[in-house]
Amino acid sequence: MKKVGFFKSIQFKFLLVYTLLILLAMQLIGVYFTDQLEKNFLNNFNNSLKSQASMLSYNIGEAVKEARESGEGNNPNDVIDKIRDQLSETGGGLKVAQVIDQSGKIIATSDPAHSDIVGKRTTNNTVMRDVLTSNGMKLYTKRDASSGERVRVLTDPIEVDNQHYGILYVEKSLEGVYKDLRSINQILATATLFALIVTALLGVFLARTITKPLAQLQRQAVAVAQGDFTRKVRQFDEDEIGRLAVSFNNMTERLHEANETTEAERRKLKSVLAYMTDGVIATDKNGHVILMNKRSEELLGVYKQNVLGSSVIDLLKLQGEFTTYDLYHLDDSVILDFSSDDQVFLLRAHFSVIKKENGELNGLIAVLHDVTEQEQIEAERREFVANVSHELRTPLTTMKSYLEALQDGAIKEEALATKFLDVTQMETERMIRLVNDLLQLSKMDAKDYTINRARTDFVEFFHKIIDRFEMSKKQNIRFIRKLPKNPVYVDIDRDKLTQVIDNIISNALKYSPEGGAVTFNVVHLGRFIRISISDQGVGIPKDHLTKIFMRFYRVDRARSRKLGGTGLGLAIAKELIEAHGGEIWADSEWNKGSTISFTLPVHKEGEKV
Ligand SMILES: Nc1ncnc2c1ncn2[C@@H]1O[C@H](COP(=O)(O)OP(=O)(O)OP(=O)(O)O)[C@@H](O)[C@H]1O
Ligand SMILES: [Mg+2]
Repeated sequence: MKKVGFFKSIQFKFLLVYTLLILLAMQLIGVYFTDQLEKNFLNNFNNSLKSQASMLSYNIGEAVKEARESGEGNNPNDVIDKIRDQLSETGGGLKVAQVIDQSGKIIATSDPAHSDIVGKRTTNNTVMRDVLTSNGMKLYTKRDASSGERVRVLTDPIEVDNQHYGILYVEKSLEGVYKDLRSINQILATATLFALIVTALLGVFLARTITKPLAQLQRQAVAVAQGDFTRKVRQFDEDEIGRLAVSFNNMTERLHEANETTEAERRKLKSVLAYMTDGVIATDKNGHVILMNKRSEELLGVYKQNVLGSSVIDLLKLQGEFTTYDLYHLDDSVILDFSSDDQVFLLRAHFSVIKKENGELNGLIAVLHDVTEQEQIEAERREFVANVSHELRTPLTTMKSYLEALQDGAIKEEALATKFLDVTQMETERMIRLVNDLLQLSKMDAKDYTINRARTDFVEFFHKIIDRFEMSKKQNIRFIRKLPKNPVYVDIDRDKLTQVIDNIISNALKYSPEGGAVTFNVVHLGRFIRISISDQGVGIPKDHLTKIFMRFYRVDRARSRKLGGTGLGLAIAKELIEAHGGEIWADSEWNKGSTISFTLPVHKEGEKV
C-alpha cells in the first residue's frame, strides 16, 4: 500500500493547526501588549519631560529673580549667564533647551554649537504663538528635519514674581523610547518563534501518539486483506484508539473463523467436484461458464481455461435447439450427442437453476453424465426384443397358414398333408432351436454356466467332427484337411467346442456352391493353436466382418433365413471361444469365399486342468 504523503498526514495537520493557533495567540498578545507598552512608555516619557521642564523653568525663574534682587539684573548678560548655567545644570538629557522672552527673542540656548541664534527672534511659529498666549505647559511631537528623529517638544511659561518673563522651549528625542519598544518586540518575536518550535515538536509528538497505533491498525488491515490473520494489534491505553484496537483484533478473529469456514466449505466442494464421476458446469445468469470440474473437461474434450466465459449453449452444442432462457425453464434432462464418425458418445445433461435469496435467477448448474453405454444397451435391448419377436412371428405365421390350409381340407389329401406337417414340424424345430439358443445366450450373459474342461487331443477331436459332416453332407463338396499329424493337446469343454465348430462348418456348407471345397486348417503357434475353416462361397463384405458375431446379425437376412439361420450361431461361438481364452474372427474376399478362424490356448505339461 502507498505511504501517506507528509502533507496529507495527520502529523502535518496537527503541526499546522498548532502552529497557526500559537501564531494567532502570539499575534493578538503582541498587538495588545506593544500597544499598551507604547502608551505606557510615552506617558512616562511625557511625565518625566514635564517635571524636568517645570523644574527647569522654576529654577530659571528663581535665578532671574535672584539676579534682579542682587542688582546684577541691570546687566542683561549676567542674567543670561545665570539662565545658561541653569540650562546646563538641569537640562541634562534634553536635545534642545531655549529660553525665549516676551518679544520672541531667544535669550539663551543649551546648545553651544548654535549659540549664534542667541539674540535673534525665533522662527518657530508654534513657539511664537505660545509666547503670545503663554497659558501653561504645551506638548508637541515633531520630526527633526535633519536627523529624521521623532522629537517631543515642550513649551513652559517662565514666571518671575508672578510676572510673565518668557517661555522655556525644550526638545527631547523619543528615539530611546522607540528603541526600547523595538527591542521588546524583538524579544516577543523570539519568544514566539521559540514557542512555535516547541509547539511544533509537541504537535509532532502528540500526532505520533495517535498515528502510531493507527499505522499499526492500518498495517494489520492490509495483512488481513491479504489473508494473514495471525497479526495482532498490540494493546494500547484504555482510550478510544485502544478500544478500536481491541475491536479490530476481535474483528480479525471473527474474520479468521469465517474465512476458515468458507475455506473448508470451498475445499469440500472442490474435492466433491474433483472426484465426482459426473461432469458439473456452473454458469452466471447469462449462461456464461464460470466453473467446470475435471470430469466435465474430460467428457467434453475441452480445457477449462479455453471455455471459461463462453456460452454454455455453445459448449454443449445446443445452438438452434435451446436458448439460455429455455434451459432455465427445462423440466427434463437433455441427451447431447457428441458422437464422432467412428464412435458413439452420448451425454445426458440435467439443468438446475441457481437462485438468489430473493428468488432472482442467478445461474445454471449443468450435470453431465456419460450415458453412451446405457443408451447403447437400451438400444440393443429394444433391437433384441424386436428381433426375437420377428424371428418368432415368421415361423408362427407360416405354421398358422399351413394349419389353416390343413383345416380347410388339405388334410384329406395325404401327400399334401404330410408335406404341410413336415413344414410345421420344421418351423417348430426352428423355433425350439431359436429358443434354446436364446436361453443359452441369456445364461452366458448371466454367467450362469460352467465350462467343463478336459484334456483333449484337438487333432483327433476335430477329425471326428469333420467325419460326421462328411458322412451326412448332401451337397457335392470336397473336404480338405490340413491338420497336424501329431496330437495337439488343449483343455476344452468338448460339447461346447463341438457346438462352435458345428456352427462354423454348417455355415460354410450353407454358403458353399455345389462342387466347392471346404478347407480345415490347424496350426500350432507357440502357446496357441489356430483353427481355420475356409469355404469358396459368396464371402462376407468387409464392413460386415466383425458384425457377423453380433446377435441376430445376418448379412443377407432373407437368404440366411431361407437357409434356416437365426443369426445367433456365431454370437454363441464368440462367447464360448472367449470363455476358453481364445479369439475368433472372420476373413473374406467377396465372391471368393470366407475363412472363420479361432484360437485356443494349448495345454501346458504339468498344468492341472
Ligand atoms: N461361411 C460364410 N460365408 C458367408 N457368409 C457367412 C458365413 N458364415 C457366416 N456368414 C454370415 O454371417 C451370418 C451370421 O452367421 P450365424 O452362424 O451367426 O447365423 P446363421 O448361420 O444365419 O444362423 P444360425 O447359425 O443361428 O443357424 C450369416 O447369416 C451369414 O450372413
Ligand atoms: Mg450358423
